[in-house]
Amino acid sequence: MTPPRKSIHGSWSSRLAFVLAATGSAVGLGNIWKFPYIAGEHGGGAFVLVYLACIALIGIPIMMAEVMLGRRGRQSPINTMRALAAEANANHAWRWVGWAGVAAGFLILSYYSVIAGWALAYVFRSMAGAFSGATAEGVGSIFIQLTEDPERLLAWHTIFMVMTMIVVARGVKSGLEQAVRFLVPSLFVLLIMLDGYAMASGAFDEGLRFLFTPDFSKIDANGVLIAMGHAFFTLSLGMGAIMVYGSYLPERASIARTSITIALLDTLVALLAGMAIFPLVFSNGLEPGVGPGLIFQTLPIAFGHMTGGVVFGTLFFVLLVFAAWTSAISLIEPAVAWLVENKGVTRVHASVYAGAATWGVGLLTILSFNRWADFHPLSFISIFEKSTIFDLLDYLTANIMLPLGGLAIAIFSAWVMRREDTVQELDMGDGPAYRLWHFLVRYVTPVAVIIVFLNVTGLVDFSHLFRAG
Ligand code: PHE
Repeated sequence: MTPPRKSIHGSWSSRLAFVLAATGSAVGLGNIWKFPYIAGEHGGGAFVLVYLACIALIGIPIMMAEVMLGRRGRQSPINTMRALAAEANANHAWRWVGWAGVAAGFLILSYYSVIAGWALAYVFRSMAGAFSGATAEGVGSIFIQLTEDPERLLAWHTIFMVMTMIVVARGVKSGLEQAVRFLVPSLFVLLIMLDGYAMASGAFDEGLRFLFTPDFSKIDANGVLIAMGHAFFTLSLGMGAIMVYGSYLPERASIARTSITIALLDTLVALLAGMAIFPLVFSNGLEPGVGPGLIFQTLPIAFGHMTGGVVFGTLFFVLLVFAAWTSAISLIEPAVAWLVENKGVTRVHASVYAGAATWGVGLLTILSFNRWADFHPLSFISIFEKSTIFDLLDYLTANIMLPLGGLAIAIFSAWVMRREDTVQELDMGDGPAYRLWHFLVRYVTPVAVIIVFLNVTGLVDFSHLFRAG
């Protein structure tokens, strides 16, 4: 038995605090903004099914692995990987998993903050009654006016980054607990209300059919990769966010139960959002595949027509901002924890450095929606023909970096670490539950990630398996 390490950054006040923080990290723009628009772009039902399968078979086991590594290493992901590799007599190079995670978090936050800025802008649009009685065209033009103006986007992006830096500078533990405690329940109430509205919209059946009737002819290898990448993205996996939160986990707590709870809450939020949005898409004659503006072009129509829509709309976007905020701080925490551990700087300085750098890279995303909207740097590759820099950043991080990070974490946990150490750390005995976890992480995740990658690059083609008959 290895004696437990201690974190220099302190720890959560309880297991519940960890659950809340990790849920705050998982539930974010990924669920409400990204899931509906990518499901819409990739044909709906089949995409949703692949995504759900990835959550269950890859997401939950990898989440358990990340919490386990974090709690055992008790440091930033970079130093945790270094320490655990040494413990297992493995190569130093494993610390690069931590570095890749820091890079992924940094790139994700650079665009995440811009989108969170849209949500901030919509709080004020909604409060001012801009959506009252609005038509699909009206709402569409409000969206275009915002995204076409780089200065406005810059202002909102800056405000959001400053908000994130303030929380991170103060330490992620203070305040987060309270924020998430009210956030998640309120989000559920509002989404269920929106679902109720969607139910009365006249196209609820069509919306549900789109989301839940799988038609495998509508999804290709790239769509499968995007669904898998999103499973990592939405659960905050593959880059160390959950690992660093796990490193603040205090006493022995059931990692399995905790991970399942977080994954269920996260999935429910995404599905509720999808069920609110697609009926509105169809009842207003909109296209499910319009892209990143989808929720901003649909939900305001609902707010514009329901009684109390100004209040509910404002509240909804406030909650969306909060959800994004509690995710953003986890995107930057691995970098900040490392700066504090290795560079001897204070949390305040670390947050400012990491935040300022992220803010700067965010300019690429801002310009992708206006000045550079027609700039498609990789247009010579067919799947990137129409991709802006923002699209490419999103693809690189969510669909390449996170799954590769997850693959490395899987291999490390189930092939490199001593089995008895993982048994000890997961603390659920060596029975069927542990064996299932070990099997999924040892075989299923690596094989799935590798097959999906090979398929997208065209090196191997399994598509006939779907298309048979
Ligand atoms: N899970 C967050 C969301 O769905 C995004 C995120 C990704 C946060 C990776 C941390 C790490 O919005």
